[in-house]
Amino acid sequence: MMKTLQLLVASASAATPFARSAGAIAFADPSSKSSLARMTTSSYSSSSSPAARGRALASCPTVPLRDGTAHPIVGFGTYKVGFVPASASSAVDGPLRPASDCVGDALRVGYRFLECAEFYGNEAEVGKAIEASGIARDELFLCSKVWTTTIERGEDAIRAQLDKSEWEWGIAYHAPRSTRSLFSRRCRYHRDENNPRLRRAMTALADLGTNYVDLYLIHWPVPGKHVDAYKTLEKLQREGKIRNIGVSNYAVEDYKELLDGGIESKPAVNQIEINPFLYRKNTIAYFRGEGVVLQSYRSLRDGKAMDHPSLSKIGAAHSKSPAQILGRWCVQHGFVYTPKSVKVERMVENSQVFDFELSEAEMEELDGLTTAEALDAFQTLYRKCVNRDTTKDGTMEGVKMDITVD
Ligand SMILES: NC(=O)c1ccc[n+]([C@@H]2O[C@H](COP(=O)([O-])OP(=O)(O)OC[C@H]3O[C@@H](n4cnc5c(N)ncnc54)[C@H](OP(=O)(O)O)[C@@H]3O)[C@@H](O)[C@H]2O)c1
Repeated sequence: MMKTLQLLVASASAATPFARSAGAIAFADPSSKSSLARMTTSSYSSSSSPAARGRALASCPTVPLRDGTAHPIVGFGTYKVGFVPASASSAVDGPLRPASDCVGDALRVGYRFLECAEFYGNEAEVGKAIEASGIARDELFLCSKVWTTTIERGEDAIRAQLDKSEWEWGIAYHAPRSTRSLFSRRCRYHRDENNPRLRRAMTALADLGTNYVDLYLIHWPVPGKHVDAYKTLEKLQREGKIRNIGVSNYAVEDYKELLDGGIESKPAVNQIEINPFLYRKNTIAYFRGEGVVLQSYRSLRDGKAMDHPSLSKIGAAHSKSPAQILGRWCVQHGFVYTPKSVKVERMVENSQVFDFELSEAEMEELDGLTTAEALDAFQTLYRKCVNRDTTKDGTMEGVKMDITVD
């Protein structure tokens, strides 16, 4: 079995699933049929401009963020990889593979954008996988999110969390190769939070200005707290620790509250659930109009819709799996696609979405699968989650009861 997997990974690397279609997707009209045709080949450059930095991710098509940063359109989702948070809505069947093994597989398969979060409880393991991979920091695109509990506690807690995330990812990879072993030792000290040497080491590394995340998101718009949290992220961006700021699970009304709250720069992305079974066209159109890139989460509908007849039919027409149809729908619409799997063969399968195109009729069929019940369920989940894990959990305190749902 292991040998089969190794062969699969080796052949995946050789064929580099993303390689056939490297380049940037023009974002002006991302849903247009010709988006794919407009992908262009790009090459690596060590220049430090945001656009050039993005070219280090040459093997995956990208979408431009508002500052020109090239954001890979496919990433590896790390939720419930190696660890299931206590307040997760559903469990995972069977024993968990260590997150470092899963992320290591994802990196070997070719994923370079890792979609992470404080909440996922596995960033130290993600860091181990990065460290073991030997992949240079500027070839990776690291996104993380600050959780509701930390947002509620305010600026100091957010600062401490970001420092921790960056450390756990292995700051060693921000440093020149010659200093890596020193940094690795310090990383190990730092993982023991009670070790006083650890804090000194962190300061030393911060002083080098080498620790940053490519994208940092507010995980949920915690009522009464999220605007201040965003302003803290703006400070951290000015300090060089965050390249781009984004939000997640923001309704149109949360976004307007942010703008009215006096923030300095609009978010680069909004990460929300997007798949054919939860396709909120008005919300998506609004954010696109604001120049906010949509990152899709649960792009595979959490694996729970794979036997839908439309997916089977369209899959059969293209000799593709239902998961690949969902992935293709996502990237063909220009949404960032973040499939999660702990199985290497599925990591490969999920990445292979650039060698076919869905017809207009197929896209329309998939676009029409969202039901009124699904929109209702989304609204219920939104109301429950904005206060989740905070001192207001279980209450509707501050929760917006009238958001744009569709
Ligand atoms: N911002 C937020 O609030 C938020 C919320 C949820 C998720 N996210 C992010 O989005 C990422 C993706 O979402 P998600 O993990 O919730 O769900 P997802 O990617 O839509 O689906 C994951 C599920 O599908 C299964 N699966 C994966 N590939 C498959 C395939 N080819 N065929 C059949 N089943 C397959 C996985 O099982 P196996 O692992 O066993 O293969 C897993 O059960 C997360 O990992 C996280 O990074 C963000």
